[in-house]
Amino acid sequence: MAYRAVHRREVLGKRMHQTFSEKRAELENKEKALSNMKSSLAVMDKELTREKVEAEYLVPEVEYWVETEPVKALKERVKNWLSLKQPVHIIGPTGCGKTAISLTVAKELGRPVVWINGDESITTTDLIGGYSEVEVNTIRDKYIHNVFKDKDILKADWADNPLTLACKYGYTLIYNEFSRAKPSANNVLLSVFSEGVLELPTQFGEERYVKVHPAFRAIFTSNPVEYAGIHRAQDALLDRMVGIYMDYYDRETEVKIVMTHAKLDMKDAAAIVDVVRRVRERLPNAEKIGTRACVMVARMLKGFKKFDKDSVNAVLGDIIVSKTKSQEDFLSKQKILDSI
Ligand SMILES: Nc1ncnc2c1ncn2[C@@H]1O[C@H](COP(=O)(O)OP(=O)(O)O)[C@@H](O)[C@H]1O
Ligand SMILES: [Mg+2]
Repeated sequence: MAYRAVHRREVLGKRMHQTFSEKRAELENKEKALSNMKSSLAVMDKELTREKVEAEYLVPEVEYWVETEPVKALKERVKNWLSLKQPVHIIGPTGCGKTAISLTVAKELGRPVVWINGDESITTTDLIGGYSEVEVNTIRDKYIHNVFKDKDILKADWADNPLTLACKYGYTLIYNEFSRAKPSANNVLLSVFSEGVLELPTQFGEERYVKVHPAFRAIFTSNPVEYAGIHRAQDALLDRMVGIYMDYYDRETEVKIVMTHAKLDMKDAAAIVDVVRRVRERLPNAEKIGTRACVMVARMLKGFKKFDKDSVNAVLGDIIVSKTKSQEDFLSKQKILDSI
């Protein structure tokens, strides 16, 4: 009997069965649809990751960026090191502009930016991520009436934190005030910079090692005063970074920053910057006031009707008192202000 690939299998005028070629075509179509679905899922996944980065690791915005020659030169220096894939560590006193320049450089690199702010409580999990929740699913199979089949599925969701995201997808990581975190929390960075591999200690198998993406860049900031303190970062880590020391900006830059932030004219901005710079010279290192103080004084004084010595003194007093250790200390600082 000859085999017929096409056979009329009809019951009451309706087709009952498919031929082989029809079956194959259907299977192929299904596979095609599945692969299309998979690729659109991958796109969605990528989008979700990006949204997640933007939503969860809110990066502060640089609202008013001023770029004088010295600012530009510093910016280029940081960028040049980063172009060699070197992690850059910007060291400088409080309020000199470390965070602002890091954010600006990171933004100009054109990659998504992830942000970590270092403090005492930072742990390795904050850097790399962890299991966010454990989901237990119980499936009770009662297909056969007197047989129960229970199946517990324990599913833990791993959530990437900034460092993992940056290493995986090649984002720019800013680790602000990184020396405020306990050095042990930062150990995980060592293999990232020495071997180009991020090890996730709580993951297993292939998932445990993340190969660092070629576009990954890292900028660290720290304050030399704190840096010498209890949380001195491990030498092995510091050795892997280039350190760029930045001081307070020059007078012209500070004046321009104050003009932009407080919307003051050059004369008023210069007067404020000059007073702050003189106070700065007289204060001990750990208590010096930076460009942030210039901006704060300017914003406050702008609301005053008079711009006299007493109001300037009062505003400056409020700013320097936050780092004052005692009543006596405050009085001696008051004297400095009076003499200026
Ligand atoms: N180049 C700049 N242009 C505009 N504003 C700046 C610039 N550099 C610093 N600032 C401002 O000076 C203040 C202190 O800068 P910040 O980056 O916070 O200092 P740090 O991180 O060193 O403590 C902020 O208000 C910041 O916006
Ligand atoms: Mg800062």
